Amino acid sequence: MPTTKRAQPDACSLLDADHRLVKKLFKAYEELAKSKAAIASQKKRDLANEICAELSVHARIEEEIFYPALREALRETDLVDEAEVEHATAKDLIAQIQEAAEVDDMFDAKVTVLGEYIDHHVKEERNEMFVKARAAHGLDLVAMREELAARKEELMAELSGAIP
Ligand SMILES: [Fe+2]
Ligand SMILES: [Fe+2]
Repeated sequence: MPTTKRAQPDACSLLDADHRLVKKLFKAYEELAKSKAAIASQKKRDLANEICAELSVHARIEEEIFYPALREALRETDLVDEAEVEHATAKDLIAQIQEAAEVDDMFDAKVTVLGEYIDHHVKEERNEMFVKARAAHGLDLVAMREELAARKEELMAELSGAIP
C-alpha cells in the first residue's frame, strides 16, 4: 500500500512501465541470440519488430506530450534537448533494424547496441528528468498520464492496423 503521494500513478510511472517492458524484451532477445537454433531467426525478427514498435510509440508520446510540457515547466531545458537528440539517434538504429534484409550477426549487434543506448537514455529520464518533472510547479502529471495513455492507445491501434 503506497503511503506517499509520490506513489500515485502519474505520467512518469506510465512512461517507466514502458521502459521496463522494453528492457524485458531486450533481455528476451539476448537469450534468443545466445541459442543458435535455426528457429530463433524468425523469433528474433518478431521480437525486434515488437521492440521497435514499442519504442517508436513511446518516443512519439514523449515528444508530443511529455517533453513539450517539460519545456514549459522547467527553467533548464538541456535535459529535454539531449533527450530529443538521443531519440533521433535511436530512431536511426530502429530504422536500420526494421529495414534489415537478414537476421544475421549484424542484426544482433544492432539490437544489442539499441538496447544499451536505450538503457542509458532511460537512466537519464528516470533519475534526472522524472525527478525534475515531479518537483516542477504547475505540471499536472496525474492528468497527463491519461493523455499519454489515450495517445498511446491510438498510436498502437494505428500500428496494428498498418500490418496486413
Ligand atoms: Fe525518451
Ligand atoms: Fe522514455
